[in-house]
Amino acid sequence: MRILAIETSCDETALALLEATGGLSAPQFKILGNVISSQIEVHRPWGGVVPNLAKREHLKNLPVVLEELVGGPASGKKPGLLALDAIAVTVGPGLEPALWTGVNFAKELYKNLKKKNSKLKLIGVNHLEGHLYSFLLKQKAEFSIFPPEADPPSEDNFQFSKRKLFPAIALIVSGGHTILLKMDSLTKWKKLGETRDDAVGEAFDKVAKMLDLPYPGGPEIQKLAKQGNSHAIEFPRPMIHDKSYDFSYSGLKTSVLYYLRDRKEAEPPRVGGSASRKLKADVAASFQEAALDVLVTKATRAAKEYEARSIFLSGGVAANASLREKLEATSKKMRIGFIAPPMDFNTDNGVMIGVAGYISYLRKKNKRITAQANLNL
Ligand code: KG4
Ligand code: ZN
Repeated sequence: MRILAIETSCDETALALLEATGGLSAPQFKILGNVISSQIEVHRPWGGVVPNLAKREHLKNLPVVLEELVGGPASGKKPGLLALDAIAVTVGPGLEPALWTGVNFAKELYKNLKKKNSKLKLIGVNHLEGHLYSFLLKQKAEFSIFPPEADPPSEDNFQFSKRKLFPAIALIVSGGHTILLKMDSLTKWKKLGETRDDAVGEAFDKVAKMLDLPYPGGPEIQKLAKQGNSHAIEFPRPMIHDKSYDFSYSGLKTSVLYYLRDRKEAEPPRVGGSASRKLKADVAASFQEAALDVLVTKATRAAKEYEARSIFLSGGVAANASLREKLEATSKKMRIGFIAPPMDFNTDNGVMIGVAGYISYLRKKNKRITAQANLNL
């Protein structure tokens, strides 16, 4: 099945073209094209994503990105739009004005193409399912989870055999969500917990702002943290000992705010009035350590409780090297698999929407094709 996938839930206009084959026990994906037009520079002066600016940019970018993906001289081997079997589009969660641009674009395209291709399908995709299923993109070279039978089993692909993959614990960490799930199969899961206030990515972005770092804050905190001491400041680890699998990040964020305020009052004014580079690096490192500690502790506890055979990590914060290292180490210790998508597929992208669209198609579970800003898993 050839799928055109469209993602506009936040600040990336992301389109991808995929060839998906296989059933629910062995879906395989070949990426024919993947284009992302990022709006980071547009939103940076505002310190965060401005919904109406995102809408304007998506409207401008969608036809350009589509042309780059399927048209133009570089499209040589790519199938044209008439060769599509389905269009998959993110319907939520996300910023409503941004979601509508993708939904309307997909609907219009579907209407036009359907005249010549009566079998074309339009699939509504939950953005969070996109993140969740991005672990299926583990093998970058082949983009298939289950290696061909002829392939000799290796250390690297052992976890991709269906029998050994589940039950799994999946952690989705993004700018809008922090969710822990138990997965019994590709299609059967139970939410164990989620954040009660801020998402972990949101906390990274807000703390970055306090440290005068540009948006988006996650990668900036990670960079600065490398120069700091992660044990310099003992920030709280909210809900770490709570028996639920819920999370809370607003208290940690406030602790950082108070810490910086107290230090500022205690110290003589500096040139420019801002905290020193060393102090900022220690704050970044100690905050990151506290934020990740809760994620890793809870994911590990869940993996033990449910006797998981693997841990999946996804969402924008999954790009954090320290988080990947910590979860990989804990998984190794438990002798279970750890799977995070290749770097390009952690933050928002069209490929993961195509993957989730295909799984929805196989499950015959289509979402309403309308923007649903508060959709959840
Ligand atoms: O999944 P995503 O691209 O968009 C949403 O669905 O929200 O996630 C974006 C979030 C932002 O909060 C960003 O700061 C965070 O992911 N992020 C990171 C890193 N890279 C992106 N957080 C921590 N460390 C990183 N390296
Ligand atoms: Zn996302």
